[in-house]
Amino acid sequence: MSPRACVIGWPVEHSGSPVIHRYWLDQYGIDGAYEKEAVRPEDLERFVQQLWTNGYVGANVTLPHKEAALRAARSADEAAIAIGAANTLWLDPDGALHASNTDAYGFMTNLDAKAPQWRAAKGDVIVLGAGGAARGILYGLLKAGVPRVLLTNRTRERAETLREAFGPKVEVIDWAARNEALAGCGLLVNATSLGMTGHKPLIINIAALPNDAVVSDIVYVPLETPLLRDARTRGLATVDGLGMLLHQAVPGFERWFGVRPEVTPELTAHVVATLGED
Ligand code: ATR
Repeated sequence: MSPRACVIGWPVEHSGSPVIHRYWLDQYGIDGAYEKEAVRPEDLERFVQQLWTNGYVGANVTLPHKEAALRAARSADEAAIAIGAANTLWLDPDGALHASNTDAYGFMTNLDAKAPQWRAAKGDVIVLGAGGAARGILYGLLKAGVPRVLLTNRTRERAETLREAFGPKVEVIDWAARNEALAGCGLLVNATSLGMTGHKPLIINIAALPNDAVVSDIVYVPLETPLLRDARTRGLATVDGLGMLLHQAVPGFERWFGVRPEVTPELTAHVVATLGED
């Protein structure tokens, strides 16, 4: 039987994952399928525990199911446990459900690819935001050896919660202090939804960033956000958010379909063109 995987969400219609995985299935000539599964929160546990019966070898999990998917799994990798959420599921050889989180891998791999000059040990990183995306990014940065992360969020308590989870290398600063805090930072990451088409703009003045700083955004609609445009205009290296989405998909595809897929400029162009159709 040809392998099938899916993305599970509620709603699921706007997930970008099918475009990525179907492109790879086609590119590698794999006789498999990738579906969208709209699953209500109250049905999530049963759905993932019967993944095989439902016809799947694995799945991606999107909002609002990422925490519940981790709880439902028999085993989980270190990243999923530390982040407190799963985005990728597969069945172990004995049929047991395994939960993984590939967001940190996606973020760090994309950073390495687009800003190879960046070095974790070189200095402070500033992260804007304290939601699920920020958790994955913090985990990846600390694992890579960043000595200190300045974390700032509109709602300070959410940032304090992340500091408690990730330890003393995370230092919380006030949202109002974000402009001055940029001095001395080698990397700025926007992990909020600000700047996304249809959302509020991200108000920040990046003048204090050093000249060799890298600026990264998790927002990928538009591909070049106003933050990334400002950074490029200042001559700073930029890392867009689409690459993170593409790279986080790699480990799941490899598990389910047995081929480690590549993130190429052609895939990027294909996804940009498809997202633009909305
Ligand atoms: P995700 O899980 O995708 O990260 P989320 O948990 O909704 O999504 O987090 C969205 C992030 O954008 C949060 O850091 C949020 O700040 P709050 O914790 O204060 O809500 C941030 N954000 C959203 N709208 C914002 C705004 N108008 N100003 C500042 N930050 C905002």
